[in-house]
Amino acid sequence: MTTSRTSTPSSIPAPATTTEGPATLADTAPKVLSLIAGYMGARTVSMGLRSGLLRQLADSPATADDLADALGMDPFYVAVWCRAALGAGVLERQGAGFRLGDHMATLLLDTSSPAYVGGVFTVAEAPEMFGRFEASLTSGERMWWEDTSPEWIAAVTGTGTPFYTRLVPAGLEQVPGLAERLTTGCTVVDTACGSGVGAVRLATTYPRCQVTGVDGDAHSIELARERVAAAGVADRVTLVHSALEDMALEEPATLVVNNISMHECRDIDRVTGNVRDALEPGGWFVISDFPFPDTDEGLRSTPGRIMSGIQFFEAQIDDQLLPRAAYDELLSRHGFTDLGTASLTPMHALTWGRRR
Ligand SMILES: C[S@@+](CC[C@H](N)C(=O)[O-])C[C@H]1O[C@@H](n2cnc3c(N)ncnc32)[C@H](O)[C@@H]1O
Repeated sequence: MTTSRTSTPSSIPAPATTTEGPATLADTAPKVLSLIAGYMGARTVSMGLRSGLLRQLADSPATADDLADALGMDPFYVAVWCRAALGAGVLERQGAGFRLGDHMATLLLDTSSPAYVGGVFTVAEAPEMFGRFEASLTSGERMWWEDTSPEWIAAVTGTGTPFYTRLVPAGLEQVPGLAERLTTGCTVVDTACGSGVGAVRLATTYPRCQVTGVDGDAHSIELARERVAAAGVADRVTLVHSALEDMALEEPATLVVNNISMHECRDIDRVTGNVRDALEPGGWFVISDFPFPDTDEGLRSTPGRIMSGIQFFEAQIDDQLLPRAAYDELLSRHGFTDLGTASLTPMHALTWGRRR
């Protein structure tokens, strides 16, 4: 129920009302200030990640002076950073010094954790996110992956990794009937494989499977080749440089996955048709993506606000994150059956279907 903001003499009970009056200045100012505070906290965290301050504190709690000494930094500047990080809730006091708050090491530093979000801070500060968007507000100039920097590709790999960590194997285990096929051995395709984190994860988790990674970006495929070789799985992983719109694979696949990229397809119906054609009868297509909110309330939630930030990059490559239900419609349109969905986090959902 909403209440009126007009004042009522204390002797008369305030009537219940459903009309919401205009917010006061005092109501509104904290909303604006919390945006500034969030920005200060985010800059403090990304500085702490890049400089090694957070890593050092995760290894051993320390005073600002000891921290500065260990990293060869200016003690006064380090003390300023520590205080800001304490204010942001990232650090706690320990004796005369500081330690990371509970779970902060997992959330901000542990790239192998399904809960890792540290990569999002550095992605948000890359020029491809806000700077280039603002500079192109008038021209509306678009770009594609080959126009982005190697630093951007590396940063995106950092944000994509926890999505793969949640997908393989726990997310895939939620798809009825799939886990058994993966254990006994089959053919798996990672469409839009990027720099190969998923291809390696699939190959190492399912040692009886053959894995193919397909991506349209030459630099990403090069990185994937290096990653696959370093992981020692090159004998079971094939990498293909191709737009998904032109994808034609030799062997029928049991499983096709797509991690945080389906919304980027230039022609999503053509790609879905290609995926269907690449699957054996009964084979699965699992789309792992951001579920973009489809309500104003959702947009105003914390995940909604983060995903709205990601839309600045997506707009520049001429797409947008999609509401999860859009994938139900897509799979139905292409004759997939046994549709299912799972929410892995508020910013990560799976949608799947089987080829008839
Ligand atoms: C956000 S990255 C994700 C990469 C990887 N799946 C991950 O999670 O780290 C998107 C990738 O999709 C690729 N991509 C997007 N649309 C594509 C298309 N239509 N055909 C081929 N590759 C595409 C890009 O080249 C880029 O490597």
